[in-house]
Amino acid sequence: MSSKSILTDKHIILGVTGSIAAYKACALASRLTQHGALVDVIMTESATRFVAPLTFQALTGRPVYTTMWQTDASGGLGTHIAHVSLAHEADLLLIAPITANMMAKIAHGLADDLLSVTALASANRCPILIAPAMDVGMYENPVTLANVDILRSRGVRFAGPGSGRMASGLEGLGRFIEPDEIAGHCRRVLGMNGSLAGRRVVVTAGPTREPLDPVRYLTNYSSGKQGFAIAQAAVDAGAVVTLITGPVSLPTPIGVERVDVLDTRSMLDAVLVHATGDDPTDALIMAAAVADFRPEEIAERKIKKTQDPASMQIDLTYNPDILYEVSRQTRKPLLTVGFAAESDDLIAHAQEKLARKSLDMIVANDITAGDAGFAVDTNRVVFVMSEGIEELPLMSKEEVAQRIVAWVAEHQM
Ligand code: CTP
Repeated sequence: MSSKSILTDKHIILGVTGSIAAYKACALASRLTQHGALVDVIMTESATRFVAPLTFQALTGRPVYTTMWQTDASGGLGTHIAHVSLAHEADLLLIAPITANMMAKIAHGLADDLLSVTALASANRCPILIAPAMDVGMYENPVTLANVDILRSRGVRFAGPGSGRMASGLEGLGRFIEPDEIAGHCRRVLGMNGSLAGRRVVVTAGPTREPLDPVRYLTNYSSGKQGFAIAQAAVDAGAVVTLITGPVSLPTPIGVERVDVLDTRSMLDAVLVHATGDDPTDALIMAAAVADFRPEEIAERKIKKTQDPASMQIDLTYNPDILYEVSRQTRKPLLTVGFAAESDDLIAHAQEKLARKSLDMIVANDITAGDAGFAVDTNRVVFVMSEGIEELPLMSKEEVAQRIVAWVAEHQM
């Protein structure tokens, strides 16, 4: 069971149209339901040729609507204003996959089935997000592209299409993007009026990597999970997010601008560019586990075993402290949040770092605890501020991220 997120308790209408990609909409319905969303599926007649309504009903645990003419519980709506009632209650109308035909209908205001009627009735009631799926020739046909422009100009949001191999064997634009990515687009749209709407947040994540020779490096165990969760939570709150990350293998949250770096000095450069300067960011959250030192010299060639053992020594030198460098800038972020990874005297060390690095808040965690810190999915942290501390219980990294973002939203200037 995943922790609470922006999707929890949201009422999403998932419209499914007649495309072979309809089978992927099953995974999408399942994923949204697992996140706690209430997913009501409307299928067009042609969608039912690809997937049975029962499949969606079983995955969502809710009725599936296939016609606007029935008024009982078996595939219809128990109300005389069927076409508006669904749109009225929804937080989001998601049509995935959407065919060229349904895009044309919505672009031109046609309403001859429950889904197009619901889309027409949803204007000014809930946002519409569409994930196109069609053959490249259909998508790139000028008539479809003109419909894309019309839909965009009316505020309809797009999830894809992607480019790649299609069921027809052809390659090109028109491919249905992956269910997880579509769920990411849903989060972005649902969060756009959140507590950080329009605010800019820079987040750092992951380890940094300091080269020793062309094949070796020094680094640490950071997985990047906490920083990525913060970036996602900031998107969920409506922020414009830049994520500066060291090498990790995590997918980029949808809606985030990702900047990849390797060593500490390149992370410093990226932070100075994105968080300080003429137009500093609203908040900087430094979750990266930055390497404090690096080999003084990087060997140009691979260090060989034949080397004289007496010379087998790595001399280290200090890296710059990124937060300290940020604090010395004339134009700096309005709020700066750091982390303190400690193995003893948690609060005292965190308080010292708070002052030394001129931070507004520091998220302190005890890295010796088995259920918190590096490479696990949970964290137990203490928020340390100049005015006091707040101890948080053990929670998922997602929940920690939401609490940090909520703190930033409460303290924004
Ligand atoms: N940090 C930084 N630049 C560094 C090292 C750390 O900006 N060269 C940031 C981290 O991203 C974190 C905070 O400073 O937000 C504290 O990191 P931590 O490793 O706990 O502290 P250090 O300052 O490195 O001190 P020490 O390793 O001695 O505990």
